[in-house]
Amino acid sequence: MNFEFTEEQQMIRQAARDYAQRELIKDVIERDEKAIFPTEHIKKLSELGFMGMLVNSKYEGGGMDTISYVLAMEEISKVDSSVGVIISVNNSLVCFGIEKYGTEEQKEKWLKPLARGEKIGAFLLSEPGAGSDATSQKTTAIDMGDHYLVNGVKNWITSGNSASTYIVIAQTDKEKGHKGINALLVDKNSPGITVGIHENKMGMRSSDTHSVQFTDVKVPKENRLGDDGFGFKFAMKTLEGGRIGIASQALGIASGAYELAVKYAKERKAFGTEIINHQAIAFKLADMATEIEAARFLCLKAAWLKDQNLPYGNASAMAKLYAAETAMKVTTEAVQIHGGYGYVKEYHVERMMRDAKLTQIYEGTSEIQKIVISRAIATDSL
Ligand code: CAA
Repeated sequence: MNFEFTEEQQMIRQAARDYAQRELIKDVIERDEKAIFPTEHIKKLSELGFMGMLVNSKYEGGGMDTISYVLAMEEISKVDSSVGVIISVNNSLVCFGIEKYGTEEQKEKWLKPLARGEKIGAFLLSEPGAGSDATSQKTTAIDMGDHYLVNGVKNWITSGNSASTYIVIAQTDKEKGHKGINALLVDKNSPGITVGIHENKMGMRSSDTHSVQFTDVKVPKENRLGDDGFGFKFAMKTLEGGRIGIASQALGIASGAYELAVKYAKERKAFGTEIINHQAIAFKLADMATEIEAARFLCLKAAWLKDQNLPYGNASAMAKLYAAETAMKVTTEAVQIHGGYGYVKEYHVERMMRDAKLTQIYEGTSEIQKIVISRAIATDSL
């Protein structure tokens, strides 16, 4: 076993760190407060290759491995996890889904602009009544011969307004249950699509989250990803990789909050000494450091499995579960270590605590990850 990163992986991590620490940090508080989408940053991060970093260079992506993706996601999310989720959804859910299951024509038309960062992608699975229970899709994609007619509502869609490429999961044949679901590539500007209001979220406020309504939207048959009825499995397979992205984002939130807590604990004096010298603080930091390291290893293990073309669904569920729980715990402790300062915006950790909460909810709640892991235990496939 080799714990060393390659030179290339280290360079990618450094590039992400430099951009985050020099640029993202400048206006992160304002973006959070006013819920401003990071348009300029996404443009620059596209130029640096991060929006399509996992896509093969044949399709104009960065051709980077998943280990590098974990490293970059951690560095970016240390400073601004809203930017992290935009990159993660674009790479792991949208680009991956097209690259893995799309035809050459679909890759040419839809993947290349996403890989170049000219377009942003969104993944439309969740519905008002189907978040965790993803087989209960109410959005319909009725087969009309040469096209599907899509009707329904999708909820909590990351990049719902800023994206121009949607992957929409919808039910074509109700009788067939999850085997009657399809995944369709849809241009957001198609007639019949209405984007709902920007959700006023607790955290990750500068990533835009919307509901999207479909009313008699015509989608050409050639836009279907995979065979007829493959849509649910498409979503599950895609989410396996998505969970590596969100786990790494949670890892970044945790390590960002931890670094700030260490810095503060070394500077702040109470009872005649820096508070890091008080065991009550030092032991918290020891727990935080240990849990972050464990989360990092889980993320890297899942990434390594994916890069080796080995099954990684259970490993990504473990990484997502543990990293999200760690992010919530570590950010809460970071606020506690900062005392009153931690509760005000300029010290960053209160934002990180709000952001951490979402990592326990989206791309499968912590409870969903436990379903995935416990089923694998029950079937001896862990
Ligand atoms: N890979 C391949 N196939 C899979 C699979 C996987 N990982 N998981 C399930 N399947 C297949 C099963 O084999 C089964 O197929 P067969 O009948 O042919 O055997 C079929 O899918 C149905 O599987 P289950 O019976 O296990 O389905 P279930 O209803 O019990 O649900 C679940 C399983 C794991 C709970 C799933 O519904 C799930 O992951 N739910 C959470 C959904 C989720 O993560 N939503 C997040 C929204 S996206 C988002 O948040 C993006 C964003 O904007 C940030």
